[in-house]
Amino acid sequence: MELPDCNSKYSRKDYWEERFAVEKEFNWLGGLRHYVDVLDDMLSSFYKSDSILQLGCGNSSFSTELSAHGWTNITNMDISLNGLNRLREREPRSEYLLMDMTRMPIKDHSFDIVIEKATLDSLLVTAKSPWNFQSEENLLVSKVLSEVKRILRPGGTFISITFTQPHFRVPILTTKGLDWSVRVDTVESSGLPSYVMQMTAGDPKPALDKYCWVHSIEVKVKDSADLIISSEDEDFLGNIDPNSDSENDNDVSR
Ligand SMILES: C[S@@+](CC[C@H](N)C(=O)[O-])C[C@H]1O[C@@H](n2cnc3c(N)ncnc32)[C@H](O)[C@@H]1O
Repeated sequence: MELPDCNSKYSRKDYWEERFAVEKEFNWLGGLRHYVDVLDDMLSSFYKSDSILQLGCGNSSFSTELSAHGWTNITNMDISLNGLNRLREREPRSEYLLMDMTRMPIKDHSFDIVIEKATLDSLLVTAKSPWNFQSEENLLVSKVLSEVKRILRPGGTFISITFTQPHFRVPILTTKGLDWSVRVDTVESSGLPSYVMQMTAGDPKPALDKYCWVHSIEVKVKDSADLIISSEDEDFLGNIDPNSDSENDNDVSR
């Protein structure tokens, strides 16, 4: 697969649609084997039948590997239909949602675990400075985080696997109102460090003290349609009823 001619393409829906039309499988930041020990520890209080939502599954085999590891209730979501179809060919047992993670028409408290690998990273490729926590890109990430908080069940957890260093990401994860404690583990994958960050309801202060040179920040999230999504994407998004209370509206698994 050829690399895009500029990094900003990674934040475009049409880039992913075109890429997944030809590419069968690619695992950003490596496969489950790099993360399995950390994840087993982080998820030790959950049952293997608890519900998992993966944000931005793409054509990666991460959910296939989670299934093989015993997790039985996985829903994969992506903004790209081609990505979902690629994965569904290999993993027909999972559920699939064609959806934009910045505004998910999913009922509150629907999932026990939300997980993402390199998906939030793809929203940040156009950011000029990682220190600008009010950039459009970081506001979009904040929008996703508030959605994740809303759809998680009480006692649920959010796992984010990222190449973004903790001092750039933890300030966003400890934003006022999310009320998350943040655990960060470092994993060597493919020769580079990746970070596994676990968010649970709790006190953000220990993570703030450890990773942040700024005080807890307050983020004013605008409607995501005002941010970096193109008009073409808005047409696509317009087909999703944000007031719907049915998580099956965009279910392409049926
Ligand atoms: C860097 S890839 C990561 C894919 C996969 N998680 C992995 O580990 O290999 C980013 C993925 O996020 C998806 N994506 C980008 N923006 C999205 C959005 N707003 N909502 C849902 N998925 C999105 C892309 O289609 C792509 O599949």
